[in-house]
Amino acid sequence: MQQQPNGLIKALVIATILMGFHTTISAQQGQPFSISMNKVSLQFLLDTSGRPLYAVQFNQQPVVLPSRLGFTLNETDSVFDSGFHIIGSEQSAVDENWQPVWGEQRNIRNHYRQLTVHLQQGRPPGRLLDLVFRVFEDGVGFRYEFPRQQRLNYFIVANESTQFNMAGDHKSFWIPGDYDTNEYLYTTSLLSEVDNRRMVDSSLDIAVRVAPDRYSVQTPLMMKTKNGLYINIHEAALVNYSAMQLHVNTKDFSLSASLVPDAVGNKAYLHAPAKTPWRTIIVSDKATEILSSRMVLNLNDPTPLTNTSWIKPMKFVGVWWEMQTGKATWSYSDFADSVSAAGKPIPNGRHGANSDNVKRYIDFAAKNGIPAVLVEGWNTGWEDWFGNWKENVFDFVTPYPDFDMPALTRYASSKGVQLIMHHETSGSATNYERRMDTAFRFMKKWGYHSVKTGYVGKIIPRGEHHDGQWMVDHYNRVAEKAARYQITIDAHEAVRPTGLHRTWPNWMACESGRGNEYNAFSNGSPPEHETILPFTRLMGGPMDYTPGIFKMKGYTGYAPKRQMHTTLAKQLALYITLYSPVQMVADLPENYEAHPDAFRFIKEVPVDWDDTKVLSAEPGDYLTIARKEKGTDNWFIGSITDENKRIEIISCSFLDKGKKYLATLYADADNADWQNNPEAYSIKEFLVDDQTKLQLTLAAGGGAALTLRPATDVQVKAYAR
Ligand code: NOJ
Ligand code: CA
Repeated sequence: MQQQPNGLIKALVIATILMGFHTTISAQQGQPFSISMNKVSLQFLLDTSGRPLYAVQFNQQPVVLPSRLGFTLNETDSVFDSGFHIIGSEQSAVDENWQPVWGEQRNIRNHYRQLTVHLQQGRPPGRLLDLVFRVFEDGVGFRYEFPRQQRLNYFIVANESTQFNMAGDHKSFWIPGDYDTNEYLYTTSLLSEVDNRRMVDSSLDIAVRVAPDRYSVQTPLMMKTKNGLYINIHEAALVNYSAMQLHVNTKDFSLSASLVPDAVGNKAYLHAPAKTPWRTIIVSDKATEILSSRMVLNLNDPTPLTNTSWIKPMKFVGVWWEMQTGKATWSYSDFADSVSAAGKPIPNGRHGANSDNVKRYIDFAAKNGIPAVLVEGWNTGWEDWFGNWKENVFDFVTPYPDFDMPALTRYASSKGVQLIMHHETSGSATNYERRMDTAFRFMKKWGYHSVKTGYVGKIIPRGEHHDGQWMVDHYNRVAEKAARYQITIDAHEAVRPTGLHRTWPNWMACESGRGNEYNAFSNGSPPEHETILPFTRLMGGPMDYTPGIFKMKGYTGYAPKRQMHTTLAKQLALYITLYSPVQMVADLPENYEAHPDAFRFIKEVPVDWDDTKVLSAEPGDYLTIARKEKGTDNWFIGSITDENKRIEIISCSFLDKGKKYLATLYADADNADWQNNPEAYSIKEFLVDDQTKLQLTLAAGGGAALTLRPATDVQVKAYAR
């Protein structure tokens, strides 16, 4: 342990007093530990009441002022956040590289210094608590560990006392602390203005849910200080615990952990030895560095899977958007009681997942080199669920009469295309758990290796929440079980990711946020939405956003007035700016066939990368990312803006020195804008090298996408002229 200079102790004492703890630091208790990594430093200490406190700075500026740690337990002696003394500590350092199975870069550096502090409560029975801090160049992670001990065996967390005391009234990008959904628009406000009841969500003409705590927000929470520091708070490795939301004190800007409760209000059921997820604070004076942080991934465990060769990033088309836009239905009959005299269901004539239509998608995928086709609405249950909201309606193994399972499996395989299974659980997680083995075996029998799961509606068992411990365990069980069957997962309406894809790379993506589909069935998401998502939802992991819509307006069915809130070129750019190893090619085949030149970008864009450079970014405003395709020398760039037109100047200095590349630029046309002229684009080809400064003109709600390939001699001659 290192005794710290007096100045630091003084700063901590003053800050602690300012925070209202009215504490002095005694010689025994108050020796702070301090560890730093470049510009990031962390201190830990116990105050005179034995309360653990920590603080974080970036470049001498406060990021987290002294803040409390610990728990309230559902035990006779509930106080587990004071009365501690330090019984030991260790420090260590790690600097290693590891290779994800898939990802934004081939090599990830994991570089941190670790401090473990062993605490014991003074009064009998002397319960033990460990705190583990990791300080990285881009932030701090910490977790609690409950060592094996006599007097804390099975126990219940009533509350986590963790706080993140902010040093000012930061600008923040937040969604309300709903226990069941993250599908909200982001509100940009000062911390002092956070109030769920004042949240304006005029675009949401489907049920607005109000969070139980009007001052709570979800993580990842993105903030910006008046001095231009970017701070992102989230968690990593959410396992056997409930999701952390944050209660915002709008007066003093302290954020307190607010765990999602179960039906009776408990937060977590633990059995020592146990660990909590990591609490993460990513910090930088550059917005681009928030996006290139790999801290959340680094805090997750390596995968236990020895063979991961079956896990393949891929693009997919699907019988899907036609349901979202109201052209087709998931169900075969309109109502559960639509049956003929003979008791046969009466078809409504608009069922999307009929064999002929599925074949059309298979043909389209095969023709365009897209590896897979998702089919939703292939199985019985939808007519019982939609409208009736009956429970346990899906068995996951019974196709509708017009979906010819054997014939479609044969057809897809003859075309070299895989089919993706769909398991809408209707929130009935118990039903799904009971049927999961059968469902996975059924998938394997019919040649399906990937499943899109979904948890629409309230959770069954009743009283559990999508983001509570019971469901967190459920999603993790599904991922682990699926891995045993060599099945990959794309989970919708699941808890938002916390980097667990490092451990379970077969859990490839989640929706867990407000996706492109809202533009079809609500008044849509404003153009800034996609500039906020990377700083919030995507900080924990890939999002199945379903980009690539080409027909911007004029949907049939129930959504005639709906429209995309982007230009077509921006839909292309989203394949780069919203990272996922599984990307949907979401529009209908006919809409792509109407724009074969722009569709070329979607055909070519990869979903797995050797390297990623975040070239420019400001949450809520704009974002430009360049990525290098895995195993090639090709680069792809996506640039997007909010509702404002913008000119982005991009330096190509990331390219190999002196090498010429042939660039294909998919840009907004001069007169494009998302509202009135979203489908106007232009395509240009030209040479670039590492000296080039690219000027990208982005329309209001627009974007630009580029492919950069090493140019052949012939191309260099032809284009140099
Ligand atoms: C909501 C999902 O986000 C969407 O993609 C899916 O089509 C529907 N649920 C039906 O399961
Ligand atoms: Ca903006």
